[in-house]
Amino acid sequence: MVTYIDATSAPLKNTGVIRLYDAEAFAGMRKACQLTARCLDELYPLVKPGVATDVIDRFVFEFGMDHGALPATLNYRGYTKSSCTSINHVVCHGIPNDKPLREGDVVNIDVTFILDGWHGDSSRMYPVGEIKRAAERLLEVTHECLMRGIAAVRPGARTGAIGEAIQAYAEAERCSVVRDFCGHGVGRLFHDAPNILHYGRANEGPEMKEGMIFTIEPMINLGRPHVKVLSDGWTAVTRDRSLSAQYEHTVGVTADGCEIFTLSPGGLDRPGLSA
Ligand code: MF3
Ligand code: CO
Ligand code: CO
Repeated sequence: MVTYIDATSAPLKNTGVIRLYDAEAFAGMRKACQLTARCLDELYPLVKPGVATDVIDRFVFEFGMDHGALPATLNYRGYTKSSCTSINHVVCHGIPNDKPLREGDVVNIDVTFILDGWHGDSSRMYPVGEIKRAAERLLEVTHECLMRGIAAVRPGARTGAIGEAIQAYAEAERCSVVRDFCGHGVGRLFHDAPNILHYGRANEGPEMKEGMIFTIEPMINLGRPHVKVLSDGWTAVTRDRSLSAQYEHTVGVTADGCEIFTLSPGGLDRPGLSA
């Protein structure tokens, strides 16, 4: 059984009920998400061969501080960085470090800012210099998966419609969908109900209702879908070491579809951008 609750009257922890947010909350989310999107825009010139992911992470931290926002990942369940930087066969939750990026790498940068209590969660892929045609294709397929998932969002449909749209396109393109991580409710909390699966069938999952806010963040692999987490407890990699990509938006369900809160203010959402 699924229950829904007016977000203002629910306790501030994930109890499994799905919060429904009002117009004021949507305004708060719009601001937090646009700050995250601006930060992601400003990262493009920084992502080039020789730059360490620690430098990117410091930029994210400073950007947050300069705009009155806190990176949500900082001290989240023991995580100590302001971003996740996931390179090549790293699926997600890559930890920024002092190793320089190399020509031909593709890196996902995932940022969540908390602004006035609202969480803006988004990630994009960044090519490092010239990348291979296969990598370029994976980025395009993954971004298209995200947008097809978003196109399935509307009141009355079930969250499974999102997963079905993503899985159908990814597999038609001979790619695979990672099963071990999912999108999530977001708002006052970083990770809330419901889980948004990136695979499945349209008749599965809770019914979407106007006022719900969640992320869609498909992880798509060129090889098999299976992942393992390294001994640092965070870094998830493809078991077959095949290339993996991810894009993430935060969306709010409206009367006739959804609003994408984390759209790039500079029109830089799409893949194929390099410094
Ligand atoms: N931003 C990630 C997400 O999209 C979560 C990262 S949690 C961390 O949900 F601790 F790994 F940073
Ligand atoms: Co997320
Ligand atoms: Co994220």
